[in-house]
Amino acid sequence: MLKTKEILDEKNKLLREVSKEVVFPLTEKDQKAIHDMVEYLTNSQIEEKAEKYDLRPGMGMAAIQIGIPKRYITIVHEVDEGVFDTYVVINPKIISNSMEKIYVDMGEGCLSVNREVDGIVPRYARVTVEGYDEKGNKIQIRAREELAIAFQHEIDHLNGILFTDYIDKNNPFKDKDRYRAI
Ligand code: NI
Repeated sequence: MLKTKEILDEKNKLLREVSKEVVFPLTEKDQKAIHDMVEYLTNSQIEEKAEKYDLRPGMGMAAIQIGIPKRYITIVHEVDEGVFDTYVVINPKIISNSMEKIYVDMGEGCLSVNREVDGIVPRYARVTVEGYDEKGNKIQIRAREELAIAFQHEIDHLNGILFTDYIDKNNPFKDKDRYRAI
């Protein structure tokens, strides 16, 4: 089982690396990593398990966050209380996006950023993501709102980008009125 301390912190330079495309079939190590990431994210959103295993709540994780510089991401989205949609996308790409942009009013979060960070991170309100499932089948996902933000956040990780990069330190709420808060 993946432990919280195994998740790389923002100060770790590996997080700035551009991850490499995955070649199929997946290695056993990658399959295990995907399993561990999904398990962590799911348990972390179930209060008693999060407490029991000392997990930080999160809905998304990229492989690079556990030190694997390969292009795959996992998202576990709570759609109803205790009901989760799980996404595993290998070599994900955003192939289209809305014009409209949104931001998380409470501030975006990241399992690698262990502090509160205020400020606006503009994201597309809707995106279509293309990639592959674990078997190498091509998949396409249309995401909106919170889920769309999660995809953009995780794909950024594959390019060495953290959400904090978007925030203007001198003016964290710059251009607030140009985007819709969610
Ligand atoms: Ni993150």
